[in-house]
Amino acid sequence: MTNGWAPNSWREKQALQIPKYPNQELLVKAEQIIAKQAPLIFAGEARNLKKHLAKVCRGEAFLLQGGDCAESFRDFSANNVKDNFKIILQMSIILTFAGSMPVVKIARMAGQFAKPRSSDTQVINDMELPSYRGDIINSADFKAEKRMPNPMRMVRAYNQSASTLNLLRAFAQGGFADLHKIHAWTQDFVKDSKAGEKFSKLASQIDDTLNFMQSCGITSEHVKQIRETDLYTSHEALLLGYEEALTRKDSVTGKWYNTSAHMLWIGERTRKPNMAHAEFFRGIENPIGVKCGANITSDEVIEMCDILNPHNEEGRLTLIIRMGADNISEKLPSLIRKVKSEGRNVIWSSDPMHGNTIKSSTGYRTRKLESIWKEIETFFDIHKAEGTYAGGVHLEMTGKNVTECTGGAIGITEQDLSDRYYTFCDPRLNAEQALEISFLIADKIKKNKS
Ligand code: PEP
Ligand code: CO
Repeated sequence: MTNGWAPNSWREKQALQIPKYPNQELLVKAEQIIAKQAPLIFAGEARNLKKHLAKVCRGEAFLLQGGDCAESFRDFSANNVKDNFKIILQMSIILTFAGSMPVVKIARMAGQFAKPRSSDTQVINDMELPSYRGDIINSADFKAEKRMPNPMRMVRAYNQSASTLNLLRAFAQGGFADLHKIHAWTQDFVKDSKAGEKFSKLASQIDDTLNFMQSCGITSEHVKQIRETDLYTSHEALLLGYEEALTRKDSVTGKWYNTSAHMLWIGERTRKPNMAHAEFFRGIENPIGVKCGANITSDEVIEMCDILNPHNEEGRLTLIIRMGADNISEKLPSLIRKVKSEGRNVIWSSDPMHGNTIKSSTGYRTRKLESIWKEIETFFDIHKAEGTYAGGVHLEMTGKNVTECTGGAIGITEQDLSDRYYTFCDPRLNAEQALEISFLIADKIKKNKS
């Protein structure tokens, strides 16, 4: 048992970013309903993921984590889940080929609902209302009653997560992820693009290899790795009442697992060592992440390692670096040196999205593909110089043809943003931009290996 820890011990600490629910009785009721629901993931699965992540930690695998900034009730459909699944598969193929090593795939899906906000309220035309905090908390509609936090939304978010996970499991293991279907993963709108053509060439190379293997008697009928894939789920565990209600004791080991997702992370705004989120995270056995913005100090990183990974387990802790393309060169090296000199086992992953959000001249929050790429490239260069392993990337993307980030081969301009700007929160890469970035990362991995 972790010293004085219980699934609810976070309640004794100061909790940032948790909404103030007007109806406390309803909150208790909603949490009781969630506590009676079936676990979404199983402890054994979280243990398997930790083993895979231990390989990433040792430089023997690469981590690809990505998906929506915020899932929504409105955009839920089997097709959307499938499109996001497809883009993750395509990206992982590109990266597997480049690195000649396994890619651990973790989706920001099936639970990525709660959003931290920099400001508690939003003002439009002199009207001030509570900020939108994600569909699990309130509605994005700018109306007083819709912005009021409603605990029953947790039940809907749980149900949608269960449906999403059910689909993901079916796609991963029901034949769709079979490498023989690789050409079918490309969306029509991507097919004729540069990145689409490049992927098609890669897919044909894989076809040739599979045909060769087939003539040697190695087929998807016999080999699970050709037929199926593993896709894990993750989200920011922000709404601790919900997370507590899904935290269960594993009957095999007697340890506590959060069963709302395989991996959980602490956001940049809630990563305070002595506060509620760190308290909750220290007691769960799942692999976890901590977002590290430009202001984190190397002492704070070590403090988080002490609290969250006291046994220095490989695969337990991922540091998700989101400093911004202009800050990373100055800020990251000192963190790496400290972590290295103290012998701490961490996975270094790059989130090149959250430090590069800007406001376009047309009023949209956006990100430039060139800034995203600059941060990733610098991340790789710094690790090469420090002799450490750039273990993964953490991206916000969608399989859809949205226009939310500017740039890339398709050349989305600030004027184009209004065409298909659908996100509920931060701007995402569209499918083509996601492939383009994956090919750039793949080239970088190849170069670093040679
Ligand atoms: C996010 O990942 O959507 C997010 C809010 O990130 P951060 O905590 O790094 O700002
Ligand atoms: Co985001």
